[in-house]
Amino acid sequence: MILPVYAYGSPVLKKVAEVITAEYAGLSQLISDMFETMWAADGVGLAAPQIGLAIRLFVMDARVYSEEDPALKDFKKVFINAHILERTGEEELIQEGCLSIPNIHEDILRPGRIRIQYLDEDFAEHDEWYEGMVARIIQHEYDHLDGILFPELLSPLKKRLLKGKLRDISTGKITVKYRMVFPLKK
Ligand code: NI
Repeated sequence: MILPVYAYGSPVLKKVAEVITAEYAGLSQLISDMFETMWAADGVGLAAPQIGLAIRLFVMDARVYSEEDPALKDFKKVFINAHILERTGEEELIQEGCLSIPNIHEDILRPGRIRIQYLDEDFAEHDEWYEGMVARIIQHEYDHLDGILFPELLSPLKKRLLKGKLRDISTGKITVKYRMVFPLKK
């Protein structure tokens, strides 16, 4: 089932999300709904707060990048209770977007390499290093779990320039092809 995506300004996007257990009710259905929602919106990552749940879960599908990086040809993953343990490597400026912030894309500086510990959909433990596009998407999704959205990482000037556009997103004065929940829509 495709779920509505919560837009910028929704309080749930600012919460610090909670750890979950394997007993979390309806988890496998939720994960499959999150993939379906992400794909329908042409996203490569979706965090649970974006569908209104403040829990430490995000999904990713980076297979679209497998042309540039063949290692990504099967990269469809679920990250539960993730912890980024290390961030290293040169900082890279990469353009980011977010399904909660449609039609805005900004260059964001983040470390190029990360080590992440997480549970997959079967609650099996992983401890892995990632770089490139995957490290980038993981850091973006991981920020969602701590209530951080990419505009907050911009310079004060850039933030000021985006203010009107962000307001239009919160009030629903935008054109978007997927279903959204707008917190300030009258
Ligand atoms: Ni996002």
